[in-house]
Amino acid sequence: MFRIVHKRQLSEAVFEMGVEAPKIAAKARAGQFLMVRTDENGERIPLTFSDWSAEQGWIRFIFMRVGKTTHALSHLEVGDMLADVVGPLGVPTHTEGAGRVAIVGGGVGVAVAYPVARAMCEAGGEVTVIVGARNSELLILEKELRALPLRELVICTDDGSAGRKGLVTAPLKELCSSGELDAAFAVGPAIMMKFAAATTREFDVPTTVSLNPIMVDGTGMCGACRVTVGGETKFGCVEGPDFDGHAVDFEELMSRQRIYSDIEREADAEYSRGCQCHL
Ligand SMILES: Cc1cc2nc3c(=O)[nH]c(=O)nc-3n(C[C@H](O)[C@H](O)[C@H](O)COP(=O)(O)OP(=O)(O)OC[C@H]3O[C@@H](n4cnc5c(N)ncnc54)[C@H](O)[C@@H]3O)c2cc1C
Ligand code: FES
Repeated sequence: MFRIVHKRQLSEAVFEMGVEAPKIAAKARAGQFLMVRTDENGERIPLTFSDWSAEQGWIRFIFMRVGKTTHALSHLEVGDMLADVVGPLGVPTHTEGAGRVAIVGGGVGVAVAYPVARAMCEAGGEVTVIVGARNSELLILEKELRALPLRELVICTDDGSAGRKGLVTAPLKELCSSGELDAAFAVGPAIMMKFAAATTREFDVPTTVSLNPIMVDGTGMCGACRVTVGGETKFGCVEGPDFDGHAVDFEELMSRQRIYSDIEREADAEYSRGCQCHL
């Protein structure tokens, strides 16, 4: 059992949660994730580390309330227990020798972009962060990002309510055109990563994407998280979640993400009605 020691609501549907987990905190690295189970009858869901303290023995993650399990998680409070937190899982993001890098975070993907940006700054990288959200209400971690020694923080919103109006690909393209970019990293909705990778491909800027396929066990046993990269099958949980963005088959990723959507809708509706059937 893992005790919840911190909870903060970041926007209408996004929450930050911290749990006591000294063994996990001692090993956490940027880009890695956890498998979290709220109660013993619940499903395991993957969530990325957004922060941790090896000294104080806690880890934090940020989640968007999208379905049954994230709804249940959002109702837990400080002092409550999570049944399981397993991690750190996945290969850490390569942050050494990044040079001049653009980190692109879309929506709740900013939760992953933040620790990656922090690690790249610590490793001496010259880091520009581009964050995108539908509107200013949905922007997260702006204060934390501003506290990093970034070259620049560019904020984009679809409706222009904060920062530049438009998509993250516009400032990314400008950076690529300036010739001042050695590499890029993108994390967010699959469609955003697809277009970020398409933008950098034109300029031959190597691009890493942090993929979010459906995961079940997170240990390489079930095959649920398989993705095609450069024509080869890879398992997102043990060989990723980071992959070469120019080689990922995004159409397949997006279609596999929708496999369980009917069941997910049903489970969420049952949960909202207060059903205890543990779908
Ligand atoms: C490596 C990795 C890291 C992630 N990190 C974060 C994070 O830091 N913050 C965050 O908000 N979300 C993160 N996600 C997505 C998160 O796991 C899903 O939002 C969550 O599982 C939704 O569960 P649900 O029961 O609330 O919703 P559901 O109704 O079950 O699902 C809603 C949508 O979430 C996705 N999803 C559902 N179950 C899974 C699953 N087992 N594995 C992957 N995706 C799933 C699907 O696209 C689905 O359509 C990450 C996913 C992966 C693979
Ligand atoms: S989640 Fe089962 S193999 Fe990756």
